[in-house]
Amino acid sequence: MYISKPPLQPLSAVKTIVMSYNTKSSVKASSKVPYFFPEQPILGKFIKFKDNTKSDTGRGQNNETLPPRLFQPFKIKNLTVPNRIAVSPMCLYSTSKIENYKPTNFHQIHYGALSLKGPGLIIVECTAVSPRGLITPNDLGLWSYEQAIEHRNKIVNFAHDCNSLIGIQLGYLDNLHVGEGRETKQDSTSFDDLLESIRKEWTDSAKLAIDVAKYDFIEIQGDHGHIFDSINNIDNNTPLKLASNDNAKFCLVLKIIDSIRSVIPKHVPLFYRMSASQKAPQKEKGAKDHEKLWDFDDTIEFAIKLAEHDVQVIDITGGFYNFNSQTEKINAKRMFMKRLRTSIFRKNLSMLVTGPENLETSQEAEQVLSPMREGKKKEGGEDDDKIQDFLIIGQPFLRNSSLVTEWADELNCIISQPVQYSWGFYPSNDYKEKK
Ligand SMILES: Cc1cc2nc3c(=O)[nH]c(=O)nc-3n(C[C@H](O)[C@H](O)[C@H](O)COP(=O)(O)O)c2cc1C
Repeated sequence: MYISKPPLQPLSAVKTIVMSYNTKSSVKASSKVPYFFPEQPILGKFIKFKDNTKSDTGRGQNNETLPPRLFQPFKIKNLTVPNRIAVSPMCLYSTSKIENYKPTNFHQIHYGALSLKGPGLIIVECTAVSPRGLITPNDLGLWSYEQAIEHRNKIVNFAHDCNSLIGIQLGYLDNLHVGEGRETKQDSTSFDDLLESIRKEWTDSAKLAIDVAKYDFIEIQGDHGHIFDSINNIDNNTPLKLASNDNAKFCLVLKIIDSIRSVIPKHVPLFYRMSASQKAPQKEKGAKDHEKLWDFDDTIEFAIKLAEHDVQVIDITGGFYNFNSQTEKINAKRMFMKRLRTSIFRKNLSMLVTGPENLETSQEAEQVLSPMREGKKKEGGEDDDKIQDFLIIGQPFLRNSSLVTEWADELNCIISQPVQYSWGFYPSNDYKEKK
């Protein structure tokens, strides 16, 4: 493990290695690591169609040289993302209090494997900003310098050695739902003090994530049970109505975002994950079951506020309660996402829209992606029937960490592979990307 990069003296002799069994390939050593590790291309980047006789039909581009939408790069602030496939945050419950909630060998291998497989973005699982914000006793935490160093050593450095873009989802769960092994809040704290300390915890954690752990971006977990519900439960009794601009939760989230923004560099993107609507969390808290505290219009209004507060990505999960079948839910979600994109576009804001869609195939994935915004006047307008700017994929990556390559294969594309793997993938040197 390394914290700062060590001097590279011993490496100069092996800077360029000519592979004897592949005389055309000369492999440069990366200058970033203390062992021989080939310098990597931008993994997961479109290189060319495998079979040029097959056109890029059905994608509405009218230009056969453009890659499928899945493999069209895009920008989020300074980050150039090589494809439109992101790994969704997934808690894997593989640390503990004894480990001080630091990443373990499991995280190193899991995120390391994903880093080698070329997703455009990787979002590390929900990580608590403070001990009392832990969901379970086995979540990752990020509230101390030592934890941040371990995130960097076990997860981030290797992702960056692979040129992968990696961010972290920070979360804070309702601390009154105390589970076994969870940390509790001190009861003597006043409500205002508690809100202030939550804001500070978020801010400190975000600073550690960027300054010390060196993540490329942060996703704020604002989904069910997280920021909003926590405040709800701390406030106790009556759930606050979320719809109006001046309510406490709405303001608190924006305050937290402003506070995070004030301690991280301007170029670092912020993502916000939330449901499209939210029900009252518990009957006994005074709200009727199924009563909506937060509805589609509120989400759109809030998303616009988020964009105005320098949030670059809105990541919508569920919240489609009134729809029974899976198909109805999917259709409702797609209509909502399109409406959300259009509303953001009409306000001339640059926020990108994503959200898990239970996608299984590359064809399904292509259908929900937008054409690139650049130079497309009607993008986001009435004629734009596409739904998301990039895809965020969860469980399919647990089943198959090579999903990006599999989808590239299905779409007749060659994408860049880790140098070590590409010898097996594309022995004819097709993997070689012109930097
Ligand atoms: C094992 C597992 C853990 C998850 N943990 C998180 C999490 O930490 N944060 C979060 O926002 N969503 C979490 N989710 C939800 C996923 O990010 C994703 O939104 C959901 O699985 C639906 O997308 P999919 O059908 O592509 O898997 C988790 C899902 C799974 C399966």
